[in-house]
Amino acid sequence: MISWPSTHYTSQERFELERERIFEQSWICVGRSSAVSEAGSFLRAEVGRESVLVVRNRDGQLRGLVNLCRHRGVQLCMEESGNFGKSIRCPYHGWTFGLDGRLVAAPYINDLPPETRERHLYTAAVTEWLGYVWVNLNTEAPPLSEQVAPMLRHRFGEIDVPSHYGMEDLTVAKTISYDVRANWKILFENFCECYHCPTMHPEICDALPEWRSGYGTVAGPEGPKREGSKLADGATGFSLSGRAAAPTLPGVPREDERTFHGILLWPNVHLIFVPDHVMCMRFEPQGPDRTRVISDWLFHPEAIADPDFNPNDAVGLIDVTARQDFEACERVQLGTSSAYFEELHTPHESLILDFRSWIHQAIAERPVPRLTIGQSVNGDSNATTLTSTGTSSEVGV
Ligand code: FES
Ligand SMILES: [Fe+2]
Repeated sequence: MISWPSTHYTSQERFELERERIFEQSWICVGRSSAVSEAGSFLRAEVGRESVLVVRNRDGQLRGLVNLCRHRGVQLCMEESGNFGKSIRCPYHGWTFGLDGRLVAAPYINDLPPETRERHLYTAAVTEWLGYVWVNLNTEAPPLSEQVAPMLRHRFGEIDVPSHYGMEDLTVAKTISYDVRANWKILFENFCECYHCPTMHPEICDALPEWRSGYGTVAGPEGPKREGSKLADGATGFSLSGRAAAPTLPGVPREDERTFHGILLWPNVHLIFVPDHVMCMRFEPQGPDRTRVISDWLFHPEAIADPDFNPNDAVGLIDVTARQDFEACERVQLGTSSAYFEELHTPHESLILDFRSWIHQAIAERPVPRLTIGQSVNGDSNATTLTSTGTSSEVGV
């Protein structure tokens, strides 16, 4: 049995450990690929402690660059997204980096020691999946597919359910950000179970009547419910009114034309697949007791182009449910400070234990020292360059 004290939700020390060994060592979903479709375009993402710039090169490739000037360490860019043009120029003393992170120019560089020219930006690994950009600060990490495969298999068996919804081709119709005063694990643990659904979620239980049993799709009496949950009789879609907001997406198989599928891809994604849209929720831990949640509702571009299209009825169902969940999570967070805090898990809540063992394993298996997580463009390990102010004086500036 894993020891799981309440300080896992409250202590700064534990938060930093999880940030270092989970969020700085895993693939983290940071935003839509469409935000970086043009050459020179970028988005800025917080991953663990780091700020990362995801940049589209002229050759169409995505690069992950640590947002830290190699001269005196200022953040190069404060904007959330935009276009760098041909290069990234530090606003402090004017060092200029290519879109691949290489240092290409610096004032008076000819007067400086030759090794100064090697002070390229540190890099992060980047990949794209489901129309989203995923970043890993560990440039040696196994591919994203290895991270998500066990979770996909556990939830869907051998069927590649996400591929049926063509997320790469969908467009974000609505995004809502939530600032939740609760530890990120409390949020995941909430979504691991539906024992609370009959008590807390009248709207979603109307849409998916099976959920009144206290079992949703991710955990059931005999494991996850691979076939998903069926919409209520008479409903044509997954929304507050029960009406579809758009036609069924083109790749959805016949057996899923009235089905809800959901999956948790820890450590930072929750996906919901319904016939006419997809919802992607991303979790960004901000502190031991704060998590930012960003939800995107994705529809087919042709549906959005219809002058009568209005996503609010569909958005409203998950939005109202998520707000109910987040309020409960905040109450759990308050409870964790009590000397009497303890838990009892019913069979409905078994997935929480799987989540905890994944965390436990990730923490145990990744005793990676802080200064070796990334590489600069030329392959130097961080260890030689983040050590001291001595490096700056060598540069002589
Ligand atoms: S800190 Fe960037 S050029 Fe000086
Ligand atoms: Fe819930």
